[in-house]
Amino acid sequence: MHVTFNLAAELDAALQSAARSAGLEGNDFVSDVRTADPRHGDFQANGVLGYAKARKLNPRAIAEQLVAALPADLRDQCDITIAGPGFINFALKPATLLAWLLPHDNQEHLKAGASAFYSGQRYVVDFSSPNTAKQLHVGHIRSMVIGEAICRLLSFCGASVVRDNHIGDWGTQFGKLIWGYKQLRDDAALSRDPLEELERIYKAADAATKSDAAILDAVRAELVKLQQGDAENLQLWKKIIAISSGAFRETYERLDIHFDHELGESFYNDKLPRIYAELAETGLAVESQGALVVFHPEHPRFKTQPFIVRKSDGASNYATTDLATMLYRTEHFSADAIIVLTDTRQADHFEQLWLTTQKWYAAKGYQLPRFEHVSFGSILGEDGKAIKTRSGDPIKLQALLDEAVERAFALVTEKSPELPESERREIAGTVGIGAVRYADLAQNRSSDYVFNWEKILSFDGNTAPYLLYAVSRIHSIFRKLSLNPCDVAATAGATAPETIAEMTLARKLLGLPSVLTNTTANLRPHFLCTYLFELAGTFSSFYAAEKVLVDDPAIRARRLLLCARTLLFLETGLQLLGLRTLTRM
Ligand code: ARG
Repeated sequence: MHVTFNLAAELDAALQSAARSAGLEGNDFVSDVRTADPRHGDFQANGVLGYAKARKLNPRAIAEQLVAALPADLRDQCDITIAGPGFINFALKPATLLAWLLPHDNQEHLKAGASAFYSGQRYVVDFSSPNTAKQLHVGHIRSMVIGEAICRLLSFCGASVVRDNHIGDWGTQFGKLIWGYKQLRDDAALSRDPLEELERIYKAADAATKSDAAILDAVRAELVKLQQGDAENLQLWKKIIAISSGAFRETYERLDIHFDHELGESFYNDKLPRIYAELAETGLAVESQGALVVFHPEHPRFKTQPFIVRKSDGASNYATTDLATMLYRTEHFSADAIIVLTDTRQADHFEQLWLTTQKWYAAKGYQLPRFEHVSFGSILGEDGKAIKTRSGDPIKLQALLDEAVERAFALVTEKSPELPESERREIAGTVGIGAVRYADLAQNRSSDYVFNWEKILSFDGNTAPYLLYAVSRIHSIFRKLSLNPCDVAATAGATAPETIAEMTLARKLLGLPSVLTNTTANLRPHFLCTYLFELAGTFSSFYAAEKVLVDDPAIRARRLLLCARTLLFLETGLQLLGLRTLTRM
């Protein structure tokens, strides 16, 4: 076995060739190598059971045959045992652990190893995607931080990632916005806080249409003018979008969120006729009460609840643009996979979109990409209801981030009063933003979660402050020795791990590749969070059990090696999640 980044893949390859040389019939032996329960070793192959069962063979006998056919060097590298009815366990020998730890000495080398997972795959990730002229509030953070983490993880694992911010920049709201802009605008307020003023205009116009039918007509007329390409309204529309994008950008910068494209809904306006035509031509869409709709007879709900692709007044909608978006991403970006992030309330929409796409592409012979609606729950207040300010308004995201940084500043000041204020402010920025972000990522995204300042800023538990502190503590170990953790001189001459605490930490480190594959395969960043939290805990136990600065140079080097790799893995993991890290706290 080669000691490469992904040892599970190396073991799989070894088992496959053992299966061939042992003459296992058929070519469908699947080794199913996974990370093992640490009590049983490092890896476990579970595939023998299914293979034997399908052929009514004795699984233990098959496992023995396979193990006997494994190459001799593999036996030198691992202790191999057969457990239970026919699981094959591999426990790496200490020298093998050392051989794996040594070359994985910087982020580039880790990335080179991980890039095999998704190399050659093009992913389009649609995230953030807010609606124009509305302020970002707390709830918007989920799509941003989960989306950013997913993009970073996929790129790290070798995918080519296209990040697209699919802004909601077209639709009936522009009738009210344009009418309101013309009639109700307060120029002073507009220059002070443009997005706030746009939101006020929108709300006021919306209220006015409800009390006055003439205003409702005027609003509709503005919308029709915009849709027909009226120059003044088009210009106002552009202006409103520019105001809104500018405000969004500030938040993106603050959160280190990046996009390659901002192809909003309006980008697809001229691409919609082809959608109607193809859906009609393939017989997928039918006229129903004047609208163009797609039924899915095989589906319990969508056989009666259709996907409306053109409204009865002839206007396009969210479904039409999303179909056009799907096609554009397939044709223009040659996407192998498309990922869209929104909250779970849009689950039906995306299920119908995907059902429709599959049938449409099959009928037209288009290459079908994979599609994933990455959905997430809501952020709740302490009362278990959607989080709100005291006055019942949604909490603005910028205000929440300000508060996070303020609270973190108080915390850092309490912990490290000796640091100069400017440094404490800088640390607070990283800790505060990191805490909000990490709290969101550490949850299983499918669930709602309760937002609690004490909890997310705690130095105990699965939080950003805990992990950032763990990182800075390892930095301080190296600082005290005037050593650079990346410098090979610090770890030269390291011998293989020996004590229980050393072995346990080395094995935990070895778990990184499978955590990366699981996290990206499931698009669930909390898997990585859990791993980092456990790694930091394993490190703490190691550090409590073993003195690092011993006289024996070999022991000292191997303990420093474990410190350096823990640091590298923690920093890499946190950065993949979108956090900044600190060397001092
Ligand atoms: N603008 C939408 C919203 O705020 C989200 C768009 C998600 N992307 C998409 N292709 N539908 O709910």
